[in-house]
Amino acid sequence: MGKLAITGGEPLRKTPFTNWPIAMKEEALALEDVLTSSKWGGQPFPGKHAAAFAKNFAEFHTAKYGQCVNTGTVAIQAALKAIGILPGDEVIVPAYTWEGTVGPVLLMNAIPIFVDVDPDTYCLDAKLIEKAITPKTKAILPVHLGMRFADMDEILRIAAKHKLKVIEDCAHAHGGMWKGHGAGSMGDLGAFSFQSSKLITSGEGGAVITNNLEYMELVQSYINAGRASLTDQYHHRIIGFNYRLGEFQAAVLGAQLVRLPEQAKIRERNMKHFEARLQGTAGIGLLKPDPRITRLAPYGYVIKYFSANAKEIPRAAFVAALQLEGIPCDGLFYEPVYKSSLFPVDSRDFPALSWGREKPLDLRSMFSCPESERAAYSEAVWFPHQHFLGTTEDVDAIANAIQKVLANIEELRGLDHKAIRNQKLGRADRES
Ligand SMILES: Cc1ncc(COP(=O)(O)O)c(C=O)c1O
Repeated sequence: MGKLAITGGEPLRKTPFTNWPIAMKEEALALEDVLTSSKWGGQPFPGKHAAAFAKNFAEFHTAKYGQCVNTGTVAIQAALKAIGILPGDEVIVPAYTWEGTVGPVLLMNAIPIFVDVDPDTYCLDAKLIEKAITPKTKAILPVHLGMRFADMDEILRIAAKHKLKVIEDCAHAHGGMWKGHGAGSMGDLGAFSFQSSKLITSGEGGAVITNNLEYMELVQSYINAGRASLTDQYHHRIIGFNYRLGEFQAAVLGAQLVRLPEQAKIRERNMKHFEARLQGTAGIGLLKPDPRITRLAPYGYVIKYFSANAKEIPRAAFVAALQLEGIPCDGLFYEPVYKSSLFPVDSRDFPALSWGREKPLDLRSMFSCPESERAAYSEAVWFPHQHFLGTTEDVDAIANAIQKVLANIEELRGLDHKAIRNQKLGRADRES
């Protein structure tokens, strides 16, 4: 029997962290309002709650226009439609992200071009973008991943130089600010997800924000079965779909948006304390702070685990040991999308992959992004944002557990445990 919980010792933390999502009387009242209104859906368009939320959400992110949609994936799809992505166009995406960033590109029969991430931020590496631009490139789709921003200064500069559009995937960045500009307001459009793990959530849901009325009109028509947009100044008539958000979900979002600034402050304070506790810990690295991030929007706190400084014990064992100490966290949280089991691209479904070629492009084998692979398979450790909504003691428990595991890391050598086996698998492939 060892000292670590995974080898039979006492777990360091026996009480749960803050539960997520948080529902309070404001959500209940808003839901009651919808229930008794007999207006549950997104028609007549837009619903009262969806319209109010979209307006406030856009303002909160310093954008002029906002539109609720039914998922974050659809938010990206609608944004791609708005900027006029056509079959065969190329869209630059980071390799290290959730598959939902990339799926919509394929759905438009366009071609995702994976570019590696910056090891300082784990976000799209702006220094590598120009090498990936071809005559077919139409857009850059950076993701503000985890707790950092992609370098929007550089991305906007490159986009202007090459006449490319920019869609910000802000699924992790609710309330985030870059030099005082809201996440999603700097590119042509910003796309958000309200899936249950996100910083504000309605279980499922999404939103698109933009400063461009023509784009907003296209988004509204696209997600409302092709009907004319609310303003219809540009008279676009396009095939659209029912991708509307229902009023129950919009009502819940309204209540959560009000709470977000206060929660952002608590998270930021707790995260600073966490960083102070981890400074100088051998085996652990932090992502580089960026003073251009003027409000932190951390979907997860992400640290780096260096097995070379931890007696070569693999990350899977380190993370599993932390989990058994009572600290929910994850290592293989994302994979480079081109390697993920959730990316079984069949070129017959996406004909543009074959256009003008003898053999279709093989998106699974044509990219190599070493930083994304390092983050995914050996380095990154993700802690859910809600761990940082509680007390300083909660944060101390995480830091203490990290230090306990590192101090006893020898106990993990050669250890076989279900939690370790699970950590070697992507999230979609794990045993429950
Ligand atoms: C980075 C990123 N992009 C896109 C999405 C897609 O959002 P959704 O799951 O709401 O479709 C998600 C979330 O799940 C995400 O984390």
